[in-house]
Amino acid sequence: MSEIKSTHLIHHPYQAPQEFESPQAPIYKASTVIFPSVQAMKDRRWQDKSAYTYGLHGTPSTFALEEKLATLEGGTYCSLMPSGLSAIAHVNLAFLHAGDHVLVPDNAYSPNISMLKHLLSNFGITAMRYDPMSLTDFSAKLNERTRLVWLEAAGSVTMEFPDLVGLCKATQAHNARHAPSGRRPSLIALDNTWGAGLAFNAFELGVDVTVHALTKYPSGGGDVLMGSVVSKELAIAQALSQAHMHLGTGVGPHDVDAILKGLQSMVLRYEAQDRAARFLAHALMRESAFAEILHPALPHAIGHAHWKALCVTSQKPEGLAAGIFSVVFKPEYSQHRVEAFCDRLKLFQIGYSWGGPMSLVLPYDIGAMRECSSAPWRDQHVVRLCIGLEDPQDLLDDLRQALKAL
Ligand SMILES: Cc1ncc(COP(=O)(O)O)c(C=O)c1O
Repeated sequence: MSEIKSTHLIHHPYQAPQEFESPQAPIYKASTVIFPSVQAMKDRRWQDKSAYTYGLHGTPSTFALEEKLATLEGGTYCSLMPSGLSAIAHVNLAFLHAGDHVLVPDNAYSPNISMLKHLLSNFGITAMRYDPMSLTDFSAKLNERTRLVWLEAAGSVTMEFPDLVGLCKATQAHNARHAPSGRRPSLIALDNTWGAGLAFNAFELGVDVTVHALTKYPSGGGDVLMGSVVSKELAIAQALSQAHMHLGTGVGPHDVDAILKGLQSMVLRYEAQDRAARFLAHALMRESAFAEILHPALPHAIGHAHWKALCVTSQKPEGLAAGIFSVVFKPEYSQHRVEAFCDRLKLFQIGYSWGGPMSLVLPYDIGAMRECSSAPWRDQHVVRLCIGLEDPQDLLDDLRQALKAL
C-alpha cells in the first residue's frame, strides 16, 4: 500500500467543477484567506468590501447577509455581531468617549441600561434614563455632553410606543443649537428588533443607526444568536467597523447561513405571528383576571397614536406589529398566583427571547426594572407573552385552561 502523506491530502490537485447552482448559497468558511501574491496581500485593505483579507473582516457569506440586512432596514452599511447585545455594545463603544453623556429610555432592553450603568461608567461615561413618553422630560435631559441617544419602539415588556419622530426632532434641534461650538453631535440609535425593518422605516424618521437582534425574527428558530448595526452615513459605518475590528467580534459561518435562510421566510412569519398575537390580545381583553393588555395596536394602548402614525400604511391598513405583548394582572392576583399561571401553561414555555416557533411566557417585576417615577405598571404583576407559530386557537385554549386553574 502506498504511503499517503498529509501534504497530499492538504494540497490535493483535484478541482471540483465550478458550474453548480442550488437554491441556497454555499457557506463560506474562513479565518485564513489566501492571497495570490505578497503584493496582492499588501494591496488589500480590510475595510474594502470588494475583496477579502481575513475571516473576521468578511467572507462572501457575511457580505451577502450584511447587504440583505441593510436593504431590509432601509440603510446602506451593515456590520454583524455575535448577539443583539453585542451590537448594542458596539454602538456604545464606537460613539461614546470619556466624559460623554448618553440618554436611554426607561423601558429599554434592560441589559443595555446595565451595560451603561455598570460597565461604561468605569470609562467616565454617564447615562441617564428618560421617560420615553415625555418629550419634555427627554428634552430637559439633553445636555452639551450628550453624544448618544437611544430609542426603542415598542418599549421592552410594557410595550409603550414613543413619539420617535418627536424624539429625533428634539435631538436634531439640540444638535443644531450646539453646532457653532464645534462639539460632536449626538447620534440617534434605535433598537429596531421589535419592528425588524418591517413595521416602519427608521431611517426616514431621522435615526442614524439601527441595532437589530437577529436572534429574534431573522433567525426565527430560537437557536441562533446574532446582531447587526445598520447605518446610512459612511463616517458612522467606518467608526463602527473600526470598533468591530478592535474588538474582534466575528460571527460563525453556520450561524450566518442560518440567518440567511431565516430571512427568506421572515416576512411571512412576522405577519403570521402579528395576526396570532392580536387575535390572542383581543381575546384576553375579555378575561376577568387582567387589568390591562399591553399591545401598541390596541386603541387604548399607551402610544397607540404613534404606532398608528408609523406602522399603518395604505398597503398595510391593519398596520404591523411584532407578535409579542404583555398582560397586567388585577391587583388581587398575588405574585404566587401569577407564577402559578405561567407554570400551568402547557404550550407556552418559560424562557427568554422571542420571534421563534415556540410561544414563550415570562413574569416581570416592572418596579425593579424602571427608574422614572412616571413609569406605568410599576406595582402590578406583568407577564409577557411571545407568540410563536403554533395554532392561535390552541394557544388561546392553553391560556384559558391556565387561567381557569387559578
Ligand atoms: C429589544 C431587544 N434588543 C436586544 C436584545 C438582545 O439580543 P440578544 O439576545 O441577541 O443579545 C433583545 C433580547 O431579548 C431584545 O429583546
